[in-house]
Amino acid sequence: MAKERTLTILKPDCVRKELIGEVTKRIQEAGFSILAMKLTRLTPETAGGFYEVHRERPFFGELVEFMSSGACVPMILEKENAVADFRKLIGATNPAEADAGTIRADFADSVGENIIHGSDSVENGKIEAAYFFAESEVVANNS
Ligand code: RTP
Ligand code: MG
Repeated sequence: MAKERTLTILKPDCVRKELIGEVTKRIQEAGFSILAMKLTRLTPETAGGFYEVHRERPFFGELVEFMSSGACVPMILEKENAVADFRKLIGATNPAEADAGTIRADFADSVGENIIHGSDSVENGKIEAAYFFAESEVVANNS
């Protein structure tokens, strides 16, 4: 199977709970290679742009407020079948519905504050990666 890339964000609740190390360890233990990572803080404008597809949804305002409420850690990850396998590793959007042992089941408090983002397709992963990283910040191969 060919290698794929996905974009994750350790969200502001993950950073506030001092879980950067723990969650990153789980990601690496699951076989994902980190090709890029940084600590940054989104503004309401950049958070809104990232979640543009949800602009008309009732939770959009809360989502933007939360995602710009503190530092976050975006990363580009690589692995075979990365998009689907990463969604499996993080669990359902609502942590109450997430499978036992997933990152959201273990660490998230609510659907709004759910610790971590994962791209929903390879195509969107590319767009999301470009949102945070210049090509010069991405390691070509880190496996
Ligand atoms: P993400 O994009 O952050 O990885 O989350 P996801 O694919 O599992 O879920 P998505 O449908 O893309 O929703 C994006 C984020 O919006 C918040 N949300 N709140 N209150 C609600 O009903 C609700 N639904 C979604 C969540 O924080 C979700 O991660
Ligand atoms: Mg999503």
